[in-house]
Amino acid sequence: MTAPYHPSDREKVVAKLPTDLRKDLKVRAAELGVDIQDAVTEGVTAWRRAKSRPQVDTTGGSSFATYLPAGLYGKLKDTCKDRKLSYNQGLAQSIHLWLDSHPSPRPQPPRESGARRVIMGNQKGGVGKTATSAGVAQALAEMGKRTLLIDFDPQGHLTRQLGYQMLDIDSPSLAKHMLGEARGDIRDLLVPIKGGDFEGRLHLLPACKDAFLLDAKLATSRSVRIKETALERALEPLAHEFDYIVVDCPPSLGYAMDTALYYSRTRDGEEAGQSGIVVVVLAEDSSADAYDMLLEQIEDLAEDMSITISQLGFVVNMYDSRKGYVATSSLDEWHQIGDPAVLAVIPELKEQREAVRVKQPLLAYEPDCEQAIALRTIARRISE
Ligand SMILES: Nc1ncnc2c1ncn2[C@@H]1O[C@H](COP(=O)(O)OP(=O)(O)O)[C@@H](O)[C@H]1O
Ligand SMILES: [Mg+2]
Repeated sequence: MTAPYHPSDREKVVAKLPTDLRKDLKVRAAELGVDIQDAVTEGVTAWRRAKSRPQVDTTGGSSFATYLPAGLYGKLKDTCKDRKLSYNQGLAQSIHLWLDSHPSPRPQPPRESGARRVIMGNQKGGVGKTATSAGVAQALAEMGKRTLLIDFDPQGHLTRQLGYQMLDIDSPSLAKHMLGEARGDIRDLLVPIKGGDFEGRLHLLPACKDAFLLDAKLATSRSVRIKETALERALEPLAHEFDYIVVDCPPSLGYAMDTALYYSRTRDGEEAGQSGIVVVVLAEDSSADAYDMLLEQIEDLAEDMSITISQLGFVVNMYDSRKGYVATSSLDEWHQIGDPAVLAVIPELKEQREAVRVKQPLLAYEPDCEQAIALRTIARRISE
């Protein structure tokens, strides 16, 4: 649909915008059959009326041009001055607002290969795997996807941060299902996560302390290949009940991680990049060393099992450029890897810790905060 417009009614606006934002705008406008200039017009109009919005990272932008109704750009500039923002920032926030209020209408055909599997990994603790798993799952569910979050860390941070109890050590659990020691249906372990715009589409499989023994038990298991395939077999009954299964991995490189990596492999009938691992890292040297070890494990497993494991991207978390050269040069290095790409750079933000404190999902607690928006960007990019 091309909006009827006369050049005389419109004025050309040129700005610098992040490449991803331009791409998202282009794709979404095409999906909805909306002209880009109309989308931007709506975004700017809504943004001027909205209360202040989170900052958008506009570094590394490139030139973007569109046509706005005569006079609107002047009004945008006035609002930017009032809010003490650059014009590029005002326009970027306007486009973000439009994207958030115009979700993708893409139909979701039933998938023969079952739910897409996204695992969040890094054997370093405290880098943000749990926060990213939770937030990305909430964002996917907001986008209309039926999403299951799996707490695969025996410490159960994800379970407890969302306000749930860990499963009792003697009750059925994911680990018991993996080891063939559980009776009953794994579906009975799921609990709905309430609140926010994702309600009704998001479930959690809580952790149980018995997972501390998983590595040792998998190591001594006599069945051929049980080590690698245990997670997949345990979760098989859920494959067609969800569009996405997001696994919050433990901070280790043991057998539990192998089984998660195997689960994220590209299945027959699935394109590469539909399922895979997201690596959550910090902008510091020890994260680069940790990634090298994880990469080696991914490559060894892929070779041993003749499978393909896609790396969906990095999330550079808790980034603080004030930490100086170590942070900025390390961020450059993550960018330079190129493939996988950096999906998002998330600053150190207070809302994440506050949400954990009150045991609420971040996207319900503070849906418009900068981190929530970054998590939606990650969800959008991995679901492309
Ligand atoms: N971007 C962020 N800003 C501020 N705090 C964060 C951010 N990401 C994670 N956190 C907090 O840092 C701590 C460690 O994060 P977590 O997700 O538990 O890491 P991991 O799962 O890798 O061990 C948690 O308290 C979490 O709420
Ligand atoms: Mg964790």
